Amino acid sequence: MTMFDLRELDAPIVGAPMAGGPSTPALAAAVSGAGGLGFLAGALLGADKLAADIATARNLTSGPIGVNLFVPQFDTGRPEEIAGYAEELAELASQFAVELGEPRYTDDDYPAKIDVLLDLRPDVVSFTFGCASADDIGRLRAAGITTVATVTTVDETEMAKARGVDAFVAQGPGAGGHRGTFDPLAEPATDSLEVLLAAVLERSDVVIAAGGIGTPEDVERVVGLGAVAAQVGTALLLSDEAGTNPVSRAALQDKQFTETAVTKSFSGRYARGLKNRFMENHEKTAPLAYPQIHYLTGPLRRAAVKAGDPHATNHWAGTAFGEARPGAAAAIVEALSSRIRR
Ligand SMILES: Cc1cc2nc3c(=O)[nH]c(=O)nc-3n(C[C@H](O)[C@H](O)[C@H](O)COP(=O)(O)O)c2cc1C
Repeated sequence: MTMFDLRELDAPIVGAPMAGGPSTPALAAAVSGAGGLGFLAGALLGADKLAADIATARNLTSGPIGVNLFVPQFDTGRPEEIAGYAEELAELASQFAVELGEPRYTDDDYPAKIDVLLDLRPDVVSFTFGCASADDIGRLRAAGITTVATVTTVDETEMAKARGVDAFVAQGPGAGGHRGTFDPLAEPATDSLEVLLAAVLERSDVVIAAGGIGTPEDVERVVGLGAVAAQVGTALLLSDEAGTNPVSRAALQDKQFTETAVTKSFSGRYARGLKNRFMENHEKTAPLAYPQIHYLTGPLRRAAVKAGDPHATNHWAGTAFGEARPGAAAAIVEALSSRIRR
């Protein structure tokens, strides 16, 4: 069985999986159609929806398709801190006339999603927030699927390597969205992407660089350092095919938002996004409790989007958000890879 080789992409661009709306089958298909590798986000949706998304993407492109899953983490508990945080957010929720969500712990339907992947066999599967078990990695590889671990430290790289993955995404500190940090209670690593990339390349030949990559020069630089490709998320958020909500689209182009910051206030796990009032007001007290805080703030964030208020919902984005441009995803991939077309 021949497995998909990440070293053979025509354009060294991976379209990052972006859970929570931005990733769509059309976006994944457009990135793959342009010679890159498009990803579907398998997190925060049901196994049936994931199966439907894979089928839709397959109908839109004959190119490769990747799927990303969040690996379920242990329940960090902290019911009292969560209850206190819910009390703190109650007033804001009432301003939007919504009830906060139930702060529940779930496994994100992970075992059923692994079965979907074994059945539908996308070309590539990547994991974030940890690495799949050696057993699951073995089953996916036996099904002809290339397996990838998202890592943010050397220790995580060694752990994933021992489980048998084929490749790595080295995610640097400038990345938009959640940090892939395995330990849900650990502070996110701050080593630069360059330092992390060099360390991961000492342990694998197939490494994708991610985090704060926004220009053709950035892509050229990480490929020059040995990465097989650059994984970009933020650069695709304004693309025609992305499912980015209108409030986030506007915020990304709104001069009042001048910087990004890492926050646990929206989901209970560290993620980078445009710095807004919610982050400023609630960062200190938000407990590290994922996915409970994600579910707790969900209705509030959806209400803020409905009301067009950019200060009460998250806008995940990396440090290079100022480089993001609207347009067809294929044109964005082409521009980013223009200095190194293979
Ligand atoms: C809106 C958004 C959602 C994201 N969701 C996921 C996800 O579901 N799974 C994942 O592995 N990474 C996710 N990421 C992180 C990306 O995989 C990648 O590391 C990041 O986008 C790279 O940094 P950049 O945004 O500066 O390009 C997300 C990033 C963004 C911006």
